Amino acid sequence: MNFIVAVDNNWAIGKKGGLIYNLPSDLAYFKKMTSGKVVVMGERTYLSLPKKPLPNRTNIVLSADGNKYDGAICVSSLDELSAELKKYDTENVFVIGGASVYNLLMDNCRLAYITKINAEKPADTYINNLDKKPNWRLAAQSQVFEENGLNFTFCVYENKKVTKF
Ligand SMILES: NC(=O)c1ccc[n+]([C@@H]2O[C@H](COP(=O)([O-])OP(=O)(O)OC[C@H]3O[C@@H](n4cnc5c(N)ncnc54)[C@H](OP(=O)(O)O)[C@@H]3O)[C@@H](O)[C@H]2O)c1
Repeated sequence: MNFIVAVDNNWAIGKKGGLIYNLPSDLAYFKKMTSGKVVVMGERTYLSLPKKPLPNRTNIVLSADGNKYDGAICVSSLDELSAELKKYDTENVFVIGGASVYNLLMDNCRLAYITKINAEKPADTYINNLDKKPNWRLAAQSQVFEENGLNFTFCVYENKKVTKF
């Protein structure tokens, strides 16, 4: 299992239920990395998607209150999620947010695809900073790209001690 996320210098990922930054090339990267795969997300992230379910992907939505969504597999607990994920090759599973789900499952992931945006803006949703977690190391980093006045890099972090899920 892996996760993919865009963070800024404060590891902020969202504000008022949506994204903070507009980076079409990051959305294209997200699409390329997750197409044909299984994506796991919290209900708030699912509801924030402009097009739901995400096309050409198996969508799994965590919703504690048991809500159901057409075209998505809905699970209401981590036990149910774990049972569902047994059906897939773990390398094809991507956790795609939001903060509650990233923070819960990040240490169960082997790789983290982190788009690092060199900026700081007001935010209300953050994930744990992998640079401060001893089990994670930065394994690869792209050149710096620029779009919409923002500088960003595509990074891959590796978890040296994956916790079994
Ligand atoms: N920058 C990025 O790459 C990125 C990516 C994705 C999302 N985001 C942003 O992140 C924000 C949303 O994050 P969020 O943390 O507020 O919401 P979230 O994680 O997307 O969704 C939270 C929901 O998931 C359910 N859930 C979480 N853990 C669960 C569990 N163990 N069992 C059952 N249900 C569970 C919760 O149910 P209960 O509350 O009922 O327990 C809650 O309804 C938005 O601003 C979004 O735009 C950013």
